Amino acid sequence: MRSYALGHSINKLVHGCDYNPDQWLDRPDILSKDIEYMKEAGINEATLGVFSWAAYEPVEGEYHFEWLIEIMDRLYENGISTILATPSGARPVWMDHKYPEVMRVDGMGHRNRHGFRHNHCLSSEVFRDKVRTIDTKLAKIAGGHPGLIAWHISNEFGGECFCDLCKEKFREYLRKRYHNDINELNHEWWSYFWSAQYNDFSDIEPPYINGQNALMGLKIDWRRFTSANYADYISVEIDAIREASPNKDVPVTTNLMQRFYDIDYRELVKKIDFISWDSYPAFHNDHERYEDTMMESAFDHTLLRCLKKDRPFFLMESAPGHVNWMNYNKLKRPGVHEQFSCQTVASGSDSIQYFQWRCSRGGAEQFHGAVVDHSGTDDTRVFRDVAHLGEILSKLSEIEGSVKRNEAAVIFEWDNWWSIDVSGGFSRETKKYDITCLNHWKSLMPFGVEADVISVNDNFEDYKLIIAPMLFLIRPETIEKLKGFVENGGILLATYMTGYVNENSLCYEGGFPGDGLKDLFGIINEEIDTLYPSDKNGIRMENETLKVKDYAELIKLIDADVIGTYTDDFYKDMPVITCKKYGKGKAYYQAARIENEDMVKLSGKLLAESGIKIRELPSGIEYHARYGDDCIYEFYFNIGEEAVEVSRLNGIDMLTGKAVDDSVTILPGKFIVLKSK
Ligand code: GAL
Repeated sequence: MRSYALGHSINKLVHGCDYNPDQWLDRPDILSKDIEYMKEAGINEATLGVFSWAAYEPVEGEYHFEWLIEIMDRLYENGISTILATPSGARPVWMDHKYPEVMRVDGMGHRNRHGFRHNHCLSSEVFRDKVRTIDTKLAKIAGGHPGLIAWHISNEFGGECFCDLCKEKFREYLRKRYHNDINELNHEWWSYFWSAQYNDFSDIEPPYINGQNALMGLKIDWRRFTSANYADYISVEIDAIREASPNKDVPVTTNLMQRFYDIDYRELVKKIDFISWDSYPAFHNDHERYEDTMMESAFDHTLLRCLKKDRPFFLMESAPGHVNWMNYNKLKRPGVHEQFSCQTVASGSDSIQYFQWRCSRGGAEQFHGAVVDHSGTDDTRVFRDVAHLGEILSKLSEIEGSVKRNEAAVIFEWDNWWSIDVSGGFSRETKKYDITCLNHWKSLMPFGVEADVISVNDNFEDYKLIIAPMLFLIRPETIEKLKGFVENGGILLATYMTGYVNENSLCYEGGFPGDGLKDLFGIINEEIDTLYPSDKNGIRMENETLKVKDYAELIKLIDADVIGTYTDDFYKDMPVITCKKYGKGKAYYQAARIENEDMVKLSGKLLAESGIKIRELPSGIEYHARYGDDCIYEFYFNIGEEAVEVSRLNGIDMLTGKAVDDSVTILPGKFIVLKSK
């Protein structure tokens, strides 16, 4: 028995759902149908209490947990575990009326009214006290329940508050960061610009929408502060639960979101035990192919998995059918639920969970899909899809706890993302840092190479190839780490917009890329051209021409080899891809953005240099692997439109139990999972 994700193993893949019985407490008929249907659909977990504060404490100081325990008991008796949420994602009306300071103040300085959810001030001591009290009571009562497998803190943290308390805390944060020296802050924020110097920390205001917005350092530090404030806040909840719970071993998580911009997730997750997140890809949209949506989904799983790389993550929410909040809420086509869910497992998840088990009759999400829809029966397409997936997951059950072992990595950094965005210039339309990282990551997949998505603070020694797209904001210690990585034999690719600014968004002096990077790459970047979508340029590399888009830097060689040159414009024949041998490794510089389909050509070259094992995959096949103690689980998904024959396969097909030796034809939308030594 092994499990990295949960402190104690439940020894199976979790197949679960957000369950809101508190909306149906007057309907025992519905509650007993729920259990019957859950068993029928192979559901082995239910997430309870995500927004149940008003059901627990309808009036201040009056608590009702009996319904919760009764439901947890009943679920447990029927083989269904519980993930229990703390209810802080939405507050009861009485609280907002009695303690208005718990409500957020928006970027214009206006306090919100009661309503909606996720609308609390993280700094408010009143709110923190109320949360501590309810969490403590909940943990005492339910924390020793045998059915409890994990704690789920609040729900999808996000947003910011501009109230006076947050403002004061921000100033405190800055005092520490700038050693109580306002001149140091003025220097790092370059507040000499437009007469913005501060005389004292008490002069500083958050970046209100109608306030100071011209200082890059202010904007980035505000995001750093907000992230730190979230981390501080989540500790209040985690500590309350750990202290009060009779069972101290139940692991803690919080549900994250797709490429979420506002919070540096690496800060937020420090104290939680395992990563979980809510994935809602916009399948079948009108602007990309199904395979692009699938690849994006795999990247998103990877980014979040790598927040805690040594263990599996959980998919805390997904839509069994459609959602209700996109511009167009399309149905998932037949087979897509199965393929998406198994891709999630292939990407390192130990669970598939749904939002939601049963449709609400009213409220903002009444037309959000659910396992049980308004017809209230098990005789629906979606229900059958879910039940079918339950069968598949039970066949794949032993995969639980197995991990990833990747030799390539793509760097993704939150403060770099913010810095690129807040810096003026370039193009408002095409900076797209996150998408650029995704595209580099994706360009390795045709070779059967999954890359981790890592921070500059992660251990580089784990990798043979590191791709650092648009590492605009860079610290001296990162520069040293990158040099050490290449010196020891690593292959590094950096791109246009590398090393422009320091951690406070001040430009490096002496040309880009900053400081020691010119030595590492052997180039200096003199200018950057921003291209309109209609502009055309290319890169001549060996016998190929790669298409260029969006950004083209004009670089001068110091002591690097030229790998590719521009094909057009006044910088025709100037170097655009270079390589410098540095110690035992090589540092590549890609000075222009390359069209996705052509990036694969450069990636192939880098992989060949790195010595990472590559696989010849037919087009349309997406490959993933997970490693058990003494075996490997390999997943092949056909995400294209044609049937594809994959050859040189070997292992046991985990869904049919049959041995596979050599070729298998995989139909579009289908997949196989092979286990081998
Ligand atoms: C999530 C949220 C759930 C539900 C769901 C709908 O973002 O955590 O509570 O609102 O979206 O898709």
